[in-house]
Amino acid sequence: MDTVLEPTPAATATAPLRSGTPLLQLKGISKRFVQDIDLAGRIANLLGADNRASVVHAVADVDLDIQPGEVIGVVGESGCGKSTLGRVVAGINPPTEGTVRYMGQAIADMNAQERRAWGLGVQMIFQNPMASLNPRMRVLDIVGEAPVVHGLVKSSQKAEYVGALMRQVGLDPDYAQRYPHQFSGGQRQRIGIARALALKPRLIVCDEAVAALDVSIQAQVLNLFLALRREFDLTYLFISHNLGVVGHVSDRVVIMYLGRIVEVAPTETIFSAPNHPYTQALLSELPTLETTRRAYQPIKGELPSPLAPPPGCAFHPRCPKAMARCKVEAPVLRTLQPGHTSACHLNDNPT
Ligand SMILES: Nc1ncnc2c1ncn2[C@@H]1O[C@H](COP(=O)(O)OP(=O)(O)O)[C@@H](O)[C@H]1O
Ligand code: SF4
Ligand SMILES: [Mg+2]
Repeated sequence: MDTVLEPTPAATATAPLRSGTPLLQLKGISKRFVQDIDLAGRIANLLGADNRASVVHAVADVDLDIQPGEVIGVVGESGCGKSTLGRVVAGINPPTEGTVRYMGQAIADMNAQERRAWGLGVQMIFQNPMASLNPRMRVLDIVGEAPVVHGLVKSSQKAEYVGALMRQVGLDPDYAQRYPHQFSGGQRQRIGIARALALKPRLIVCDEAVAALDVSIQAQVLNLFLALRREFDLTYLFISHNLGVVGHVSDRVVIMYLGRIVEVAPTETIFSAPNHPYTQALLSELPTLETTRRAYQPIKGELPSPLAPPPGCAFHPRCPKAMARCKVEAPVLRTLQPGHTSACHLNDNPT
């Protein structure tokens, strides 16, 4: 390994992590957005209507422990709150309620230096590298500027540091003087990965990080993530609407529906013994799993608006197994086996 790429995140380190302490912990996390009424609504109000600002419960009461070295997949349909959850983890959005702990310490109790360590220690990689990379900056600066600013490398070492990172992510260091538009989509995502790695993170939140890439390139980038995990001792929160993609890389999978976690299990359990009818429906839609597709019914109907989630179990209008109780009573997450939780009334009344 290059000497400039020492794995010890010197400037981002807080106290060493005590064994058993999650790297990052979410407790009772909710995030609400208030959506103001639009122009048409305001005009209607002038004419006597009663339109009010609406509240989106993007994430509702989420508990999650992320252990060091884990790869956790977060899966659910578009709009279920995955990105919002990722942004709470990365400190981009503060939660409306709940506690985030990084390396055992509540964010609310951190001093400025500890907050900085959290900010550097958790990096996010986005779906569209073209939108997240400054088109007027050269790769040298896109990747190398922040670590110099934060004192992780000396200015005089910047070129060597960026060159080593470029090699690490499969890019030719001779291209450091180029701009993002001079690279392919897959290469641009590698630049985004190098930029995140440059800050010596412990946890990387990948938000649909391969969704925009061709399938063959997706596999290459997923393999790169796995190789980097070993090399740099990384932990990942891997967000995708595609259970198939997440299945390739994750140790554990979290299934979300309308802002809530509905099932958590080791990846092999999610595929071999999914409990929640929503998880089963997601599996039935995977093109590669012929047997599973036959075993479970696909999802019917549209995703309800998060502005007005259905009462009871939010999945009940689409659930093939819904019972009368499901329309009025919200199920809670229950532990079925160690490490396997699911929120479905069928677990109270096995049939
Ligand atoms: N900044 C925001 N302002 C208002 N609503 C938002 C904002 N960000 C997300 N939302 C809403 O929160 C819900 C969850 O969004 P998001 O976290 O992006 O879901 P996903 O990533 O699973 O597609 C959606 O209904 C979305 O419209
Ligand atoms: S609680 Fe009822 S509606 Fe919800 S997933 Fe279970 S069976 Fe379906
Ligand atoms: Mg998203």
